[in-house]
Amino acid sequence: MRRLWRPALDRLTPYEAGPSLEALRAQLGLAEVTRLSANENPLGPSPRAVEAVRAEAARAHLYPDGGGTALRLALATSLGVTADAVILGNGADELLGLIAWAALEAGDEAVIPHPAFEPYWTVVTLAGATPVASPLVDYRTDLEDMARRVTPRTKVVILCSPHNPTGTIIHAGAFRRFAERLGSDPPLLVLDEAYRDFVDDPESADGITLLAEHRTLIVLRTFSKISGLAGLRVGYAVARPETVAMLNRVRAPYNVNRLAQVAAVAALEDREHRERTRRLVIEERRFLSGELRRLGLAVVPSEANFVLVHAGAAAAALRDALLKEGILVRDGGAVGFPGHLRITVGTRETNARLVKVVERTAPSP
Ligand SMILES: Cc1ncc(COP(=O)(O)O)c(C=O)c1O
Repeated sequence: MRRLWRPALDRLTPYEAGPSLEALRAQLGLAEVTRLSANENPLGPSPRAVEAVRAEAARAHLYPDGGGTALRLALATSLGVTADAVILGNGADELLGLIAWAALEAGDEAVIPHPAFEPYWTVVTLAGATPVASPLVDYRTDLEDMARRVTPRTKVVILCSPHNPTGTIIHAGAFRRFAERLGSDPPLLVLDEAYRDFVDDPESADGITLLAEHRTLIVLRTFSKISGLAGLRVGYAVARPETVAMLNRVRAPYNVNRLAQVAAVAALEDREHRERTRRLVIEERRFLSGELRRLGLAVVPSEANFVLVHAGAAAAALRDALLKEGILVRDGGAVGFPGHLRITVGTRETNARLVKVVERTAPSP
């Protein structure tokens, strides 16, 4: 028999995104389901982005600007970099794929914290390279261990801060010490900052600031979280122009659609919506974490818009009880943490409703 598919595919299982909200509502017979499993923005998109999409819709027959010029310029201005240091992606997800595609081939290695955002593993495997797992310690990225796993075969190191699914961060000092250990000929250093806007710890590493010092650094960010545009799929990477030029070689010409581009420009201008989101998430993260701890659950200190909660043997019962009430949370088992739940920070009303269900379900891990 002719072998049609690449052997690398045997090592992958398709990403399990779960049923759509519509399907879930029908399945549960509920009028409303609140999804706290995908780390979306509880306030919705910026109203300015919605208006921009409306205005742009009539031009849907025209291909988008393949260079994403207006958005890249707006990002460059707001971040204090040049436009040739920015590349757009169909979500940060696509950029992970582009990095792997551009850099990795069979025999190469990529060092990845484990568990972590699952697509890291997928894109490396798909590229035919070998993912090298560095176990988290106490829910944190172990930079000592990661550095030890870097070999001459390592082409990429992926860091995630705040980390998904734990919400823990990497401090600037620790990042610098780690990068120093990689020496003068380092691999590509991907710093995924999808949740950077929710960080409240001043010691946190900031990828954009670190770019000047680290030649191979690629910072990933997204409009899916703070800007509430997850459904439009727009993310970006910031790196040295020579790195961006390489990624552009593997990028499809029209990878970010017209509506996403105008929405992202409008969202970037809407500082008020971003600030409101940030304030809400930080305040509600504190509320939710405090209440869950009061009820006897262990909550990992989070700097993201979600919390990872250790519920032990009660996790499944808790998840089911919440679902019955129309609140969908992420089963920890699906993200590398059996006995845990990953819960997106919602509005006060949603969080209070969630806490009531937990209280009734008598968790005690
Ligand atoms: C750590 C991390 N990186 C990247 C992404 C992808 O973001 P996007 O929606 O821009 O593809 C996510 C999405 O949940 C994430 O959790």
